[in-house]
Amino acid sequence: MSAEERSKIPNSLREHWMPFTSNKDFKENPRLITEAKGLYLKNHHGKTMIDASSGLFCNPLGHGRKEIINAITKQLEILDYTQPFQQGFGGSFELATRITKHTPGNLNRIFFSTSGSDAVETAIKISIAYHKSKGHGERFRIVGRERAYHGMHIGGTSVGGMINNVKTFASILMPGVVHMRHTHLPDHKFISGQPETGAELADDLERIAANFGAENIAACIVEPTAGSTGTLVPPKG
Ligand SMILES: Cc1ncc(COP(=O)(O)O)c(C=O)c1O
Repeated sequence: MSAEERSKIPNSLREHWMPFTSNKDFKENPRLITEAKGLYLKNHHGKTMIDASSGLFCNPLGHGRKEIINAITKQLEILDYTQPFQQGFGGSFELATRITKHTPGNLNRIFFSTSGSDAVETAIKISIAYHKSKGHGERFRIVGRERAYHGMHIGGTSVGGMINNVKTFASILMPGVVHMRHTHLPDHKFISGQPETGAELADDLERIAANFGAENIAACIVEPTAGSTGTLVPPKG
């Protein structure tokens, strides 16, 4: 069987557990994507569809771009991988420098990770380690927000605010996490752009600092525009 045929209809769908998917339903009625070009996807029935979510935000530049294929191919031919401990690749230093040209203020240290979930776990650990190195081991609380999504590892599930993700794992989540209220108010439902009301909900951070002790807080993590429980545009202010 050619690679092309194999990607169309696999012999068995049983062994592969899919994330965030009703596996039973999917396997009874599979939706397999076989090709992608630019804005479009093609499924195994040959139907063309618009990839309106950009591959869940992973393909914002479109699919199958020749210049990206060429750049990846060129790099693979020179150096496919190098371990990142105690040795490095010049290109990742160059990329870090380029990123700092776009980050605000003194956000100018870049740590690469392989996914959003990994990035969140790492950020939590860096915040705790930073305070510890400054002699403030008592700073252990992390403030998150209701309705937030920060990935599927334990730290991200703890600081996130998606209750169905939390329920099963409540007994093993991180201690010390406190949540601000989300800013999606009933009167925001049919508003386009930033709503006029709700900015005061961000004051929850001050209430939490007053109630739990600001000196115990290590970090606060908030999505500027929450995306996984509906696109929640922040209120003005
Ligand atoms: C704000 C935020 N944090 C973390 C994640 C997790 O990213 P990943 O799916 O790459 O692990 C997401 C994914 O949508 C996200 O939107």
